[in-house]
Amino acid sequence: KADARESLYLVSEYANTYFQKILHKTDQGQAIGLSYFKERGFTEETIKKFQLGYALDEWQAFTDDALKNGYSIEFLEKTGLTIVKEEKRFDRFKGRVMFPIHSMSGRILGFGGRILGNDKKAAKYLNSPESDIYHKSKILYGLYFAKQAIAKEDNCYLVEGYTDVIQFYQTGITNVVSSSGTALTPEQIRLINRLTNNITVLFDGDAAGIRASIRGIDLILEQGMNVKVCTFPDGEDPDSFAKSNTLEEISNYLSENAKDFIQFKASLLVKESDNDPIKKAETIREIVNSISKIPDQIKREVYIQECARIMDISEEVLFSTLAQIHKKDV
Ligand code: CTP
Ligand code: MN
Ligand code: MN
Ligand code: MN
Ligand code: MN
Repeated sequence: KADARESLYLVSEYANTYFQKILHKTDQGQAIGLSYFKERGFTEETIKKFQLGYALDEWQAFTDDALKNGYSIEFLEKTGLTIVKEEKRFDRFKGRVMFPIHSMSGRILGFGGRILGNDKKAAKYLNSPESDIYHKSKILYGLYFAKQAIAKEDNCYLVEGYTDVIQFYQTGITNVVSSSGTALTPEQIRLINRLTNNITVLFDGDAAGIRASIRGIDLILEQGMNVKVCTFPDGEDPDSFAKSNTLEEISNYLSENAKDFIQFKASLLVKESDNDPIKKAETIREIVNSISKIPDQIKREVYIQECARIMDISEEVLFSTLAQIHKKDV
């Protein structure tokens, strides 16, 4: 079993080298892949650091190359790099720029591949399938590069996408990881919790991003961690924001706009309703519901006090609501 996994790593690492070679050393790679990354504002250094690559727009260029170099079809298929259909073999990734996904210790687990441009017909990102080495609910993109900075800063920025991680990192904010499109999981939060107790959620400034932030908050609180949320202007994500601002502007924006989860939920209400009492009641209930997830009693009390102050309601009512929620749980 361990040997089989080792074979999957080796194939993945071969593919990683291959996709980088295609990007840097072939005409198609340079003309299409490299210029795509440069247009996105990635420097040569960043491209090399994150080991970005390119998959040729051909049916089986990679598979043929790997077989010729002695990698067996069994492991090519198990990593999902090759799709086998009725005796025919196809590359999973073709005509895409490639983002390798590293383990904590820097081994290659899988890939995300992005189409060039914004063709709506194809999935924007195609990812490696689950395998014996790639469990997407248990990994965070960028953690390999961010782990030291997360511990040092005692905070982790959590973003949605590959390019958000890379653009932040390039700007100089290196304590950043991404859940890469999967809904955040307790395992992913525990990976961060080994390094810090503090997460700042930076999801996209669209409805999906805000929904995902709200879901993420409760999960993070349940793990006993502290969570802040910072949203971006509608239509922006951390990548686009970082691309068009300096490090100082980004840092200022983050420190001015990062809210604790109570302020975040309260501010959503302010946006949605002009003092509608029913909506206000719903928001208070939602905030108390989030507070009820916090394992530590003292922290719960402090947050109840803050909620009372922000929402202008008595602590007594909030404590009895909290007690009701806890009773329902058991
Ligand atoms: N994602 C995915 N499959 C898709 C769309 C998205 O796996 N079809 C994942 C990717 O990891 C992506 C993340 O979800 O990075 C966030 O999605 P989105 O915000 O749509 O993409 P961006 O990261 O902003 O990508 P880009 O800037 O390249 O358009
Ligand atoms: Mn901890
Ligand atoms: Mn998005
Ligand atoms: Mn995005
Ligand atoms: Mn983006």
